[in-house]
Amino acid sequence: MPAPTMDEVVALCKRRGLIFPASEIYGGIANTYDYGHYGVLLKKNVIDAWWRAMIQERDDVVALDSAIIQHPRTWEASGHLSGFTDPLVDCRTCKKRFRADHLAELSCGLKPSKHPGETPECDLTEARDFNLMFQTSIGPVQESGNTVYLRPETAQGIFLDFKTTLQYARRKPPFGIAQVGKSFRNEITPGNFIFRTLEFEQMEMEFFVPPAEAGQWYEYWMQARLDWYVALGIDRERLRLRAHDADELSHYSEATSDIEYLYPIGWSELEGIANRGDFDLTQHQQLSGEKLEYFDQPTGERYVPHVIEPAAGVGRTILALLCDAYDEDEIGGEKRTVLRLHPAVAPVKAAVLPLLRKDGHPEKARAIYEELRRHVSAEYDAGGHIGKRYRRQDEIGTPLAITIDHQTLEDDTVTLRERDTLEQDRVPVAELVDRVTKITR
Ligand code: GAP
Repeated sequence: MPAPTMDEVVALCKRRGLIFPASEIYGGIANTYDYGHYGVLLKKNVIDAWWRAMIQERDDVVALDSAIIQHPRTWEASGHLSGFTDPLVDCRTCKKRFRADHLAELSCGLKPSKHPGETPECDLTEARDFNLMFQTSIGPVQESGNTVYLRPETAQGIFLDFKTTLQYARRKPPFGIAQVGKSFRNEITPGNFIFRTLEFEQMEMEFFVPPAEAGQWYEYWMQARLDWYVALGIDRERLRLRAHDADELSHYSEATSDIEYLYPIGWSELEGIANRGDFDLTQHQQLSGEKLEYFDQPTGERYVPHVIEPAAGVGRTILALLCDAYDEDEIGGEKRTVLRLHPAVAPVKAAVLPLLRKDGHPEKARAIYEELRRHVSAEYDAGGHIGKRYRRQDEIGTPLAITIDHQTLEDDTVTLRERDTLEQDRVPVAELVDRVTKITR
């Protein structure tokens, strides 16, 4: 089938409780979503896959979980206080606020078929720079001097802990520090589902290298990160690397390339890989007065490491996985919606389904399920017609369905149905755990 529309993906996520608007009983809140049961499992699998690639399968990266609220000088040093802004205009007529640099993609508040500023009634203010960081304050009294910020990227916590990590982790450049956690940005632009949200999880790794090696590590991480998405089952044809033009570069970046995915909204950023040079460590060194350099004893060389940063978004990875996996086909003349997710990220690996709710089927199915769930994420479902139960599992991307029927009670075998091929195989119960774990690894 052709690539799905965003509406189709959004509808499936809502129907199956993967992801849905937050605060819905109050009418929702802009660009904010909640993850339901299957969404949580999918997200956990994505994050686990990232940790596996960054930590378990390497010995040059260590983990970190730094605070969301850091010392406010952090954002002075990083340049976010002065430079992390979007140009915004207000419309005095419809009272809506728009990104000044996105007017051509936005709809007028009065006449949605027009762009802001296009109707005679539109009355736009001059563009003003608007900082994207959320402010709050420490302590019971709101006064100046107490102002702190919710981090707009996880990266800065890594730079603040560079010296501590260097000391305890006994690593030398090239080495990396990886972190997964929430970041917050006061985004005004309409979000396109979970593509752009106010709070979002980032998977970021700062790789500290000798300055002369920055170029080669930049190339290395671009390829490694692209390969990671392909290994998660995303179609290589719908992924591309795009180097930023000089006028697009962030204030800290010497070079950046985005891994883009062909979302229903067009090619858009999934992950950014940046060569941040020594910008961040040098800035923090200057403002904190702490030396943030590496001393290489054998050579007697002292330097501020350069940083290569692969920075991925959990939400955008999930959106790419969902768009890529979404498919529709026909079984026996009936339309089927199916998520052809890679088994490694599928929320549930196998569903155990008793054919009947009598004749000993539920008891046998329950025993099989309880053994299976010790090894993989499994689900027991006895409710409704068997066809409907298959459809439900297809829609959440469960790769395998195990059906318990009359024959199971006679010869201790079950049918193993494969989500994509729909092939059904008769498998001895004794071999089930082995088969399921091998297929869904
Ligand atoms: N530390 C570098 C940094 O934060 P970025 O390109 O601004 O770079 C990295 O963000 C990734 O975080 C993006 O590629 C995207 O996947 C995700 N991201 C950024 N802003 C987001 C938002 N408002 N909503 C969802 N994901 C976002």
